Amino acid sequence: MAKKVGVVGAGPAGLLLAYLLHREGIEVVVLEARSRAYLEQSPHRIRAGVLEWGSQEVLLQAGLGERMLAQGLEHRGIYLAFDGGMHRLDFPSLTGKSIWVYGQQFVVQDMIQAHLAAGGEIRFEHEVLGLEDGGLVYRTPEGAVERLACDFVVGADGSHSRLRAQIPKARVHQKIYPFAWLGILAEAPPAAEELIYASHPRGFALFSMRSPTRSRNYLQVAVEEKLEDWPEERIWAELNERLGGVAEVRPGPLLEKSLTPLRSLVVEPMQHGRFFLMGDAAHVVPPTGAKGMNLALCDAVLLYRALLAYYRRGEEGPLLRYTQDALRHVWQAELFSYFMTTLLHTPADSFDEGLRTAQLRHVAESPHLQRFLAENYVGLYTSGRHPGLLSQEV
Ligand code: PHB
Repeated sequence: MAKKVGVVGAGPAGLLLAYLLHREGIEVVVLEARSRAYLEQSPHRIRAGVLEWGSQEVLLQAGLGERMLAQGLEHRGIYLAFDGGMHRLDFPSLTGKSIWVYGQQFVVQDMIQAHLAAGGEIRFEHEVLGLEDGGLVYRTPEGAVERLACDFVVGADGSHSRLRAQIPKARVHQKIYPFAWLGILAEAPPAAEELIYASHPRGFALFSMRSPTRSRNYLQVAVEEKLEDWPEERIWAELNERLGGVAEVRPGPLLEKSLTPLRSLVVEPMQHGRFFLMGDAAHVVPPTGAKGMNLALCDAVLLYRALLAYYRRGEEGPLLRYTQDALRHVWQAELFSYFMTTLLHTPADSFDEGLRTAQLRHVAESPHLQRFLAENYVGLYTSGRHPGLLSQEV
C-alpha cells in the first residue's frame, strides 16, 4: 500500500514528525536501521539533555510532555565559572523564560511509546538502501529487499546520514574544531543545582545532570586522545581541577564514558523535489550551546506544518520554502554554538586565547552580552519562533 510520507530515522526529528502527521490522519511510516532497545538505551554515544522553552512547549502541546514535567528539571539559569569566580545568568530576568534538563533518550522513549500507542508504525531494524522513483528501498531484518512507495521521503538519519547524498549539488558548509569532549554519566550528585560551564587554562569543563543523583560531566580534550588515556580517577581529578575551587564534584560509579569530536555542518539546500532532510542529517552543531535536539524538533515542526498545508489545502508554498525557513533557525543556532565553543574552549594559539579571555570578561561585565547569551540559550530565535504548534494556523 502506498504511504504518504516515509521517514528514515527514529530520532527526535523523525519521531516528532511521524507522531504529528499520524495524529492528523496522514499516513506515515518510520524506517529505522537500529533496534528499539539500542535507541532507547543508547549507552554508546553522548546524547543531549537541554530543551529550550519552545521545545518543551512543543512537546507539551503535542501531548508528549507528561514524563518530562514529572521527571525533567526546570532550570532558571546557568553558571559561567572562570578566574576563580562564578557568574550566574538568570534566564527569567534576562528573557522571561527558562529551560528544561531532560535527556534525549527519554524524549525518544516517550515519542516511541506515544506513537506506537496511537497506532503509528515504526519498523525497527529496517535499513534503508536508497531512494527510487516514488519511494524507498530497504532491507528487512530477515534480509529481504523491499520497496515502499511514498509521496514524500524525509531523511532524518542522523549526523552520519546516508540520505544526505540524495541532494544533488548540495553545498556542505563545515567547520572542524581542534578539540573533542570526553563525557561521563555517573551515579554521583551534580556539582551544583544548575549547569556550570567552566573555563580553565587546562581546558573547558561542563557540569550537567540528568537527575539530582546523576551527573553528566564533560572535559575538553585533544582530538587524538583515547578513552584508555582517561581512567576514572584521572577524570574526576581533572574535573575538580577545572572547577577552580568554585564547587566540587564527588566521584561516583561511572555508567557511561565516551569521546565526541566537535564540528559544525550545514547542508544547503535541505530538500530536493519530494525529498527533505531534518535534524543532524541536515546540520550538526558542537554540543556547547546545547542546540542539537532543539534544532531537530524545529525542523520537524516546520516540515509538519508544510506537509499539513499541502495535504489539507493543496498549498505547495510552505514545502517549497522549507529550506529557507529552516536555515534561519539553523544558522542562528550555528552562530550561538560557535560563539559558546570559542568563548569557552582553551585554544592552542596564545593570540586566540587573549581574544577569548577578553570576550569572557566582557560577558561577565556586560548586561547586553548576558542577554544575548541567555536569549540564545533559551531559544528565542530557534524553537521560540514557532512554539505555537497547535494555536497557529497551519
Ligand atoms: C548535557 O547535559 O548533556 C549537556 C548540557 C548542556 C550542553 C551540552 C550537553 O551544552
